[in-house]
Amino acid sequence: MSEKRDILTAPFIQEMAKTTANLYRLGWDERNGGNISYLLKEEEVTPYLDIHEVKRTLPTKFDGSALAGKYFIVTGSGKYFKNVIDAPSINLGLIRVTDDGQSVDVLWGFEDGGTPTSELPSHLMGHIERLKVDPNHRIIIHCHASNIIGMTYTHSLDERIFSKTLWQMSTECIVVFPEGVGVVPWMVPGTDAIGEITAKKMRDVRLVIWPHHGIFGAGTSMDETFGLIETAEKAAQIYTIVCAQGEVKQTITDQQLQDLADAFGVVPREGILAISKVTN
Ligand code: 13P
Ligand code: ZN
Repeated sequence: MSEKRDILTAPFIQEMAKTTANLYRLGWDERNGGNISYLLKEEEVTPYLDIHEVKRTLPTKFDGSALAGKYFIVTGSGKYFKNVIDAPSINLGLIRVTDDGQSVDVLWGFEDGGTPTSELPSHLMGHIERLKVDPNHRIIIHCHASNIIGMTYTHSLDERIFSKTLWQMSTECIVVFPEGVGVVPWMVPGTDAIGEITAKKMRDVRLVIWPHHGIFGAGTSMDETFGLIETAEKAAQIYTIVCAQGEVKQTITDQQLQDLADAFGVVPREGILAISKVTN
């Protein structure tokens, strides 16, 4: 049998450690807040692990058969993002969805007897939906982005109105997330129900806001997904500043938003911009 490499040197572990540390430093993952799941290719795992060696099998409460045999590195339930960098094998775990989709096999990590994030249903259901629309999809990040959460107390929760406000708060927004954001009703976290509604939204958008709780972002790489959340959170921060400064005197107009979209070759979600079509 070939010698296995030290998994702590694996690029995916390094990415998880750096990203959790960044999110912690930004103040978006206090205590055990937030969770990340990262879809791995089998060939990324085999240099480090014997994939036939299952440490534990943990039941999921939903049908994950669409992900049967797929590998994920995920953060642990109740684990603190600030601690991942110093103790990856306790705070992270590498799991594989079983053939019947009813459980996950733990192949590495969660060494103190821990389990995957309580938001695993939202993550796995989200991966199922994103993979249907984007074969390159790999990452889901949930975090407690401060200004986004703040906005869910003061702003309309209509997702079209919410999306437009974010677009108006920073010129780059419509280019980065032209499909806007999804907003679900307040719900108890960690449930299959919030997973189902979040995943349904993810058919059309890569950012889903959980009012008074946080945000879910999906993407093809850690950088892209982190950048998506960062861009929305920055817009929400500008909104906070604008509201604190007082009366709004001007904003980016709908026509300017459309011009931006045209210039960058993106299509804004329908029903948000009020543009009168000019016909020659
Ligand atoms: P976990 O510690 O189970 O990942 O939960 C954190 C969280 O943010 C719940 O929404
Ligand atoms: Zn949370």
